[in-house]
Amino acid sequence: MRLPEPLPEGKDLARLALEMTTSDNPTRDSFLKERKRHRHRLRDAWRRLKKFRDMVFPSEFSRIVRRIEPFTMVGYDRLKGLYSGVIEITAKNITGDLVECGTAKGGSAGLMRLTAQATGQDRPLWVYDTFEGLPMPSRDNPDFDLAKARTGACRGDFEEVRGLFDSLGVLKNTQMIKGLFQDTLPQHAPEHISLLHLDGDWYESTKVCLDHLYDRVSPGGVIQIDDYGHWAGARQAVHEFLDARNLKVALRYLDYSGRQFIKP
Ligand SMILES: C[S@@+](CC[C@H](N)C(=O)[O-])C[C@H]1O[C@@H](n2cnc3c(N)ncnc32)[C@H](O)[C@@H]1O
Repeated sequence: MRLPEPLPEGKDLARLALEMTTSDNPTRDSFLKERKRHRHRLRDAWRRLKKFRDMVFPSEFSRIVRRIEPFTMVGYDRLKGLYSGVIEITAKNITGDLVECGTAKGGSAGLMRLTAQATGQDRPLWVYDTFEGLPMPSRDNPDFDLAKARTGACRGDFEEVRGLFDSLGVLKNTQMIKGLFQDTLPQHAPEHISLLHLDGDWYESTKVCLDHLYDRVSPGGVIQIDDYGHWAGARQAVHEFLDARNLKVALRYLDYSGRQFIKP
């Protein structure tokens, strides 16, 4: 640990503080840099401490995450968002099933259902996917050039996902709907939804899910968008939808990409 340096001769604290607030001041810059470094170190130490505590006394969330982690691309804070979302709809007694559009290998959907089971109020789960990977994006997609190179990526195999759900004990009361959202959603959807997880990456995939499913979400239900910060198209779809309906919602920040809001 570095000891604080003595004050330069002839300077009192008040003058030094004043100098630090003036711009283009090397003392201030090095002070700010040092403070930032300390903050990072503290944050890292805090994370390590929490990780260690979690190894010894795992929380319910960590226990669930450990079971599904190898089968998801969804980051830790967004998984936490889904977990908290299920806790919230249960505490508020919001009517409806759990729905995920964009399931890939099944990890985040598994977490949603395991969390519901852990609350003692299990709910049916509906998952939608091509189970053939990401479809070709449409020309309306602002991410088109980048996105088209990802066609077929993130593939989860239908039978493998079924096997995962079976091994997690969540296969019963789970509907696995294979095909493009555009084709399947108009045919098969639950009447009431309490938690809607949108993880289809593309503009049109996000838009079609909001168009078909938003009205089925119960007031007070939770809607989580995985790709809001990551893909411009997902963000555009959300804002086009909210603007068209004149909906004012507070988007909760989960991490650089994930957002969540409560249906008014
Ligand atoms: C990023 S992955 C989902 C990740 C998953 N939630 C997890 O836990 O790892 C995106 C998925 O959305 C699916 N998808 C995207 N657009 C779709 C569409 N229009 N119809 C059906 N599936 C779609 C893809 O097949 C892919 O499996």
